[in-house]
Amino acid sequence: MVAKKNADKEAPREQWSSKMSLVMASAGSAIGLGNIWMFPWRMGTYGGSAFLLIYVLIIAFIGLIALMGEFAMGRGQGKGPISAFEAIFREKKLAGGKWLGLFPVLMTLAVTIFYMVVVGWIIHYFVISFQGFAGLNLATYFSGFAGSSSAISWHVLAVVATTAIVYMGVKKGLEPINNLMLPGLLILMVVLAIRAVTLPGAVEGIRFMFAPNFGALADPLTWFNALAQALFSLSLLGCTLVIYGSYMPKGTDIPQAAAYTAIFDTIAALLAAFIVFPAAFAFGVSPNAGIPLLFVTLPGLFAQMPAGLLFGALFFLLVIFAATTSAISLFESAVEPLMDAFKWARKKAALITGAVVLLAGLPLTINMGHFSLWMRVTSGILMPIGTLVTMIVLFWVFGALRARKEVNEGAAVKMGPWWEFFGKYVAVGGTFFILVAGILRFTGQWR
Ligand code: ALA
Repeated sequence: MVAKKNADKEAPREQWSSKMSLVMASAGSAIGLGNIWMFPWRMGTYGGSAFLLIYVLIIAFIGLIALMGEFAMGRGQGKGPISAFEAIFREKKLAGGKWLGLFPVLMTLAVTIFYMVVVGWIIHYFVISFQGFAGLNLATYFSGFAGSSSAISWHVLAVVATTAIVYMGVKKGLEPINNLMLPGLLILMVVLAIRAVTLPGAVEGIRFMFAPNFGALADPLTWFNALAQALFSLSLLGCTLVIYGSYMPKGTDIPQAAAYTAIFDTIAALLAAFIVFPAAFAFGVSPNAGIPLLFVTLPGLFAQMPAGLLFGALFFLLVIFAATTSAISLFESAVEPLMDAFKWARKKAALITGAVVLLAGLPLTINMGHFSLWMRVTSGILMPIGTLVTMIVLFWVFGALRARKEVNEGAAVKMGPWWEFFGKYVAVGGTFFILVAGILRFTGQWR
């Protein structure tokens, strides 16, 4: 990113230095543990092929629209959520915009807290990959490690490293990591997918992914999980992409940037599924193993590969990078608002964010019950609240027509009035559905 001085703002605002960098940054924010760890376990538990079909439809009809909308809000206002909401509300002579802007910020912080616990697990698996996974009882190893005091040091390492990167300034570290890491990760995932689908018994995994499952298609639980997963995976958490949008130069082609982000993100999720399910079926791991699925499946794959040690280490290293570029965007979702609201320096904002994420994450690190509960509350209730607030402010208060005009500025392919309909009703309605379903599930009224 390069700092540019805009005439209408007192402070220089960082901007992505090239079109490729901004696409890579958004894709880097999107592609992370959501694709590699969470997508396979959710798909495996909630409907398999039905989940996959619904997920892809949601990415196309809700995710893409919301991506464009968040980018447009950030670029149009040149600000993160707190100041952007304030400006939009002030223009409408409404009070409280600034306070409303806090919602997506706090909700994204809730996501960051559990996210960093999983980054810690991944770092740990990277380190143990050097010993090789052969001879390890993968299921008992994971359950003995995650949720125990042995996970603390890895969580601390994950938070400290991310804080350090954000502390030094996003622009220095982020662009080169993104530009190298994403192609590397995708290539390696293709190699692993080829190995996985050629394992004996892998064909059952492919069948699981694609054989029609009409029962699950009609199950609202499949829709709820696919929707929540799509928002999480695209980093549609309410403020992350508004902030990334605010770093976009005026002439950016927003529909194109959104399309690339959604395509790369979906490819990464599909590749993860192509690795995990064939391998799981080949090794007799249940596809609905839940949270541990990745950790009990993949090491078995490496143990069975030529140069498995190398592939294992490389895979976990690239996942650390993918998770870090997402984690940086999650941290940035708190750091930018702190800098904006309190006029704090980046360093101070980064340290405070790191301390909160570290301390709040500790109870989740040492107890899997707490971890699952927090994750359930976050993805079913808090995350949709953050996203919903932003979408309502964008499509209803700022106005869908104006949002579309902003999206179309600099776009090669212009969005028609249908875009407004999808934003106002489909994206807002879908997110509202997650929230209601999340509350009903949490309160035990829907099982
Ligand atoms: N979008 C990020 C991920 O999928 C949070 O990991």
